[in-house]
Amino acid sequence: MATGLHADFDAASYPPYETCALCHGLFGQSRLDKFPHLAGQKPDYIQAQLDAFLAGTRTNDGGQMSSIVTELKPEDFAVVVAWFSQQDPPAPSDPPQGEPGKALVEAAGCLDCHSGNGDKTVPYLSAQHAGYLAKQMQDFREGRRTHSDAAALHQSLLTGLESGIDDIAAYLASVERPK
Ligand code: HEC
Ligand code: HEC
Repeated sequence: MATGLHADFDAASYPPYETCALCHGLFGQSRLDKFPHLAGQKPDYIQAQLDAFLAGTRTNDGGQMSSIVTELKPEDFAVVVAWFSQQDPPAPSDPPQGEPGKALVEAAGCLDCHSGNGDKTVPYLSAQHAGYLAKQMQDFREGRRTHSDAAALHQSLLTGLESGIDDIAAYLASVERPK
């Protein structure tokens, strides 16, 4: 039987999203741009990504996510998805970034899909970390992110863009998330 100072410590009583806080922030707003903000992201999208990490079809992150999802119990998934998706979204980066990223985004129609009105499995990009967005775009372009039906589309939209990827990322990070 446990005694002493830590007698009351019971790891199982901590909510599962505590496990995510080290990297993504307890309220889903992360400090480092290699860790995506999860706050206010669409629940169906978060669930789909967790499923992909668990299935091993999304793997490109140095293994952190692939390993963490194996530590969640089946009933934890709905808890973490609800927790992060219901937090207030991150604030856009400051100062606002316009051209040339805005023109590229408008020409490609990115926000036609990536808006609040679109498909529930299409993530918000607005107010996400620029560094994270740029990495995902590179992963699509180089064929490292292939797990969804949208992979081929992104590969073709992003092929040929060099500094354009950073311009797009900087612009999107500075756009306020639609309500
Ligand atoms: C050790 C750090 C770390 C921990 C802990 C961690 N993550 Fe992650 N997570 C990452 C990294 C890094 C990425 C980005 C992977 C990439 O670059 O593709 C990521 C990506 C994600 C994504 C994809 C987001 C998107 O926009 O596509 C989701 C969803 C996610 N994590 C949820 C969670 C949840 C839920 C937990 C807790 C159960 C968790 N993470 C714990 C490091 C971590
Ligand atoms: C036809 C709809 C559609 C269009 C147009 C589209 N996307 Fe996407 N995008 C998606 C879907 C669906 C996903 C989720 C794919 C997945 O689950 O991996 C996605 C994912 C992404 C992600 C990953 C976000 C994250 O949190 O990990 C980025 C970055 C992205 N798109 C950028 C763009 C950019 C930039 C454009 C315009 C050049 C664009 N998309 C155009 C549907 C679209």
